[in-house]
Amino acid sequence: MKAIYLIGFMGTGKTTISHALGEHLNVPVTDCDEAIVQYAGKSIPRIFEEEGEQGFRDIEQQTLRQLHAENHIVATGGGVVLREENRAHMKKNGIIIWLEASTEEILKRLDSDKTRPLLTGGDMAERIQTLFDARKELYEGTAHMRIDTTGKAKDEIVHEILSHL
Ligand code: S3P
Repeated sequence: MKAIYLIGFMGTGKTTISHALGEHLNVPVTDCDEAIVQYAGKSIPRIFEEEGEQGFRDIEQQTLRQLHAENHIVATGGGVVLREENRAHMKKNGIIIWLEASTEEILKRLDSDKTRPLLTGGDMAERIQTLFDARKELYEGTAHMRIDTTGKAKDEIVHEILSHL
């Protein structure tokens, strides 16, 4: 089996769905953000603080390239599509599934979250909207499949993905 990459904005359920999908398909799951933390030896907020967003993106790119792809489900970070190298790597190695959710739902899921540096400070709804608008075309242009997760239960989302594979 080729890799299955889950892409999409923060708070769209990539991590949760990757594990549920992994159970159904009986294949291992890798979380790119977790691998980044292990590789860097520090938390994501600290990487942003000490190395800036571009420093984080460099580590993200390196990590994605080194991850086991074949026969794996990979949950990526929301900004993985920003670099052309990452988009090309995922397209070459697997099937790419874009998980979407409404801004309201993302806001509900990430309310009071302090682990995502790009969303802290200022009006969260505004930040989500601005970042999403800037990325929408990249998600669209990269994904083979688009799944709206808004208001859906985990099992429903997994079944929808499985029916399209
Ligand atoms: C980011 C998303 C985060 C994490 C980092 C940057 C982004 O991952 O990689 O905070 O740029 O959208 P999740 O999408 O898993 O929250």
